[in-house]
Amino acid sequence: MTTRPRKPAPGTPAPGKLSLPELAEMKRRGDRIVMVTAYDAPSGASADAAGVDVVLVGDSAAMVVLGHDSTVPATMDELLMLTRAVTRGAHRPLVIADLPFGSYQVSDEQAVSSAIRFVKETGVDGIKLEGAGPMLSRVRAVVGAGIPVMGHVGLTPQTATMLGGFKAQGRTSAKAVRIFEDALALEEAGCFAVVLEAVPAPVAATITRALAIPTIGIGAGADCDGQVLVWHDLLGVYQGHAPRFVKQYAELAPVIENAIARYGADVRSGSFPEERHTYAIPDDELALFEAAVCVVSDA
Ligand code: KIV
Repeated sequence: MTTRPRKPAPGTPAPGKLSLPELAEMKRRGDRIVMVTAYDAPSGASADAAGVDVVLVGDSAAMVVLGHDSTVPATMDELLMLTRAVTRGAHRPLVIADLPFGSYQVSDEQAVSSAIRFVKETGVDGIKLEGAGPMLSRVRAVVGAGIPVMGHVGLTPQTATMLGGFKAQGRTSAKAVRIFEDALALEEAGCFAVVLEAVPAPVAATITRALAIPTIGIGAGADCDGQVLVWHDLLGVYQGHAPRFVKQYAELAPVIENAIARYGADVRSGSFPEERHTYAIPDDELALFEAAVCVVSDA
């Protein structure tokens, strides 16, 4: 068993909890922002212990946790449950949750009510939603309701089909200008930060210089104000295809499989559990127990 960080009393921020003004200040100081996804309490606690600044409960959960082949099937109930778990584990980082596809596209009212559910039911610090254009009024509405919003442009996985698949965006001047304008419009609409996904590095660098709010890159080069990676990609526990922007810092899948296989072998051979994994009962109590159930002890 690992020890978990102590949960702060309700209504009090955890000691050292990162605030939105501090995040903005990190950009001004040129301190790079570290963001990682997490989907349960232990991963939230590990991100917290590792000193991560922002934890994202991404709808990538649909793929890396729930086994779907896109983020589209993620539901409110699924992401609410995962987000509640993450906020139990991560106390110092800002925790942001993705609004799942279909929970904000219909109207500003739908976006506000979905965002309110996340804040009230999970204790998350803010939400992320994808796209600009018609989504700008969603951002204004959610921010207007007092809920911080992180934007997301470039490759927006929820609408990847419209973009021609999971591929880099902004590789022509016209398309790069569009992403630039979308990012500026998201800042104008009130986002506190914006994710740039799969955007050429020089385009992301120009956007980063133009925005007062932090940019968080994933496949967008080193000049973004921060970086985000998906937990399973970073740790090498995802068996599916990894995009070129992924850097794996560990290869845990074989470690996990090896541990489980050794456990299986021990169970099959009878070498687990050992004496030290079992609980004792005094001899007289055991004798009484056996008499009560009419079983003759083999001892
Ligand atoms: O869902 C997710 O994990 C994301 C990140 C890749 C930014 O949106």
